[in-house]
Amino acid sequence: MGACQGAPALTEQQAEGKHLYQVRCAHCHEENDLALKKVPPDLHGLFDRKTLPSGIPATDAAVRQNVLAGRGMMPGFAGRFTEEQMAALLAYLHTGLR
Ligand code: HEC
Repeated sequence: MGACQGAPALTEQQAEGKHLYQVRCAHCHEENDLALKKVPPDLHGLFDRKTLPSGIPATDAAVRQNVLAGRGMMPGFAGRFTEEQMAALLAYLHTGLR
């Protein structure tokens, strides 16, 4: 276990996903550190809504596809996550980002 261990309420898988989110996603989705003109949408409660910000249904498959292929100013992460890491990332997104 390293410095990026999650809160105790998270399962080990969710905690791994949280780490990945914080390292790979949050700098854009929370800080917009690249000052993108299309502000990356807030991903809190992503799966509480029926649709993703783009309007497509909020399913695991759609989010997975978005992460792998990218969208607009968002780069694709194809080849950068193992299956296990992708599953952990989705598990964490399903917590609503705790
Ligand atoms: C370089 C900045 C950047 C990074 C890094 C980034 N995103 Fe994004 N993301 C964006 C932008 C910008 C959009 C809006 C794209 C659009 O609709 O044109 C977006 C959109 C999304 C959406 C909404 C898709 C939809 O259909 O509306 C999801 C989900 C998402 N990102 C998840 C992630 C996850 C998970 C990660 C980390 C693995 C991540 N993003 C990393 C910039 C980023």
